[in-house]
Amino acid sequence: MSRRLVCLCNFIEEKEIKSVLKKGAESARDIQFQTRAGTSCGRCLPLIDDLVESFKKEKSKGQQQRLDFGS
Ligand code: FES
Repeated sequence: MSRRLVCLCNFIEEKEIKSVLKKGAESARDIQFQTRAGTSCGRCLPLIDDLVESFKKEKSKGQQQRLDFGS
């Protein structure tokens, strides 16, 4: 798993954000609330948005594959 630092202000790593996404976070706002990433200067917010969108895409891809196998 990546050890990339996403939020320099609050020392939040990518793995921590992905963990919160797996537990049900659905937006940058959820990430901010649960990790404090993006709550200081805000420069990392575009990166957090990208992580949220990528996670949602992967999740919907997985759901689509399950539907394809089911039919
Ligand atoms: S880098 Fe994340 S709030 Fe500043």
